[in-house]
Amino acid sequence: MKKTSAILWQDAQHQVLFEILDLIAQPDAGDEVLRHLHDYSEHHFALEEHYMLALDYPWTADHIKAHDQFREEIGSLLELGEDDPAFRAAVSTFLTEWLKRHVLGIDKDLEAFILASELK
Ligand SMILES: [Fe+2]
Ligand SMILES: [Fe+2]
Repeated sequence: MKKTSAILWQDAQHQVLFEILDLIAQPDAGDEVLRHLHDYSEHHFALEEHYMLALDYPWTADHIKAHDQFREEIGSLLELGEDDPAFRAAVSTFLTEWLKRHVLGIDKDLEAFILASELK
């Protein structure tokens, strides 16, 4: 039986996102780390969404809705400008848990769909 491989760009980008989330939990993390999380997650979500649209992925709307939720969380964090280390650590934990569920959940479904397509 042929083993399906993972999608390298998706795995690599998830890894980077988890690393940035770890940085946010550091006591000396500044606003630029949040800005980096904002920019990098946008880059990652946009690429996944590009594949969904290009492949006419049936669960595109739900998946984009999930990404939008994460976008909103980061957007309100940036607006808050909160630099309390304990708050940042709590945010990091919350977003990390969210991302783990997302990566092991609907991102896996998308990965399987892309792998089965011609566009991989
Ligand atoms: Fe996703
Ligand atoms: Fe993802």
